Amino acid sequence: MKILIIYATRTGVSKKCAQMLSEGLDSDAMNVELFDIEDAPPSPEEYDVCVIGGSIRMGALNKKLKKYLKEHAEALNAMQTALFLCCGLSESVDDYITLQIPKNIIPSLEIHYFGGEVKPDNAKGLDKLILKAMRSSIKEVDFEDPDPNDDPLPEIIPENISRLADRIRGLL
Ligand SMILES: Cc1cc2nc3c(=O)[nH]c(=O)nc-3n(C[C@H](O)[C@H](O)[C@H](O)COP(=O)(O)O)c2cc1C
Repeated sequence: MKILIIYATRTGVSKKCAQMLSEGLDSDAMNVELFDIEDAPPSPEEYDVCVIGGSIRMGALNKKLKKYLKEHAEALNAMQTALFLCCGLSESVDDYITLQIPKNIIPSLEIHYFGGEVKPDNAKGLDKLILKAMRSSIKEVDFEDPDPNDDPLPEIIPENISRLADRIRGLL
């Protein structure tokens, strides 16, 4: 089975998720190819399964990724396709799915939330400042939280990645 995974990343989190998925699929029966959207990924037609995803920045999904989705909508809807999102604000995932995924894409393997990270140390310039601001605003919410064991900072969610890998393996 030939699997195409395409990701859009800024600080490497979506890339890490795509690599985790790829490692979860690694077997003799599966040939996985991983592409950054910046590196002109191939069309999906040559593949059996296509997984496409990336992060949300300023409320938006990467433009090139959206363009790829729109351009290949027909092929993607005719094959096994999954989408994934990474973001810092888990409570907004449903809104991002509604507002950022082109309406004409109906992925047979659904849309998955792989979590996200808000780590200013991994970023530079304006990204660093924005991540710092996001991190402290998330922490402010935490101060109001009565449960001190609750860590609201976002993380990659490996079980969501494994769930999609299981689903894809189930197609064999
Ligand atoms: C400049 C910037 C803007 C961001 N905007 C949002 C946002 O609007 N909503 C959100 O949920 N997360 C936002 N985030 C958090 C990212 O989605 C999160 O850090 C994600 O893990 C980044 O993945 P990436 O490294 O693959 O780009 C933003 C992060 C940065 C640096």
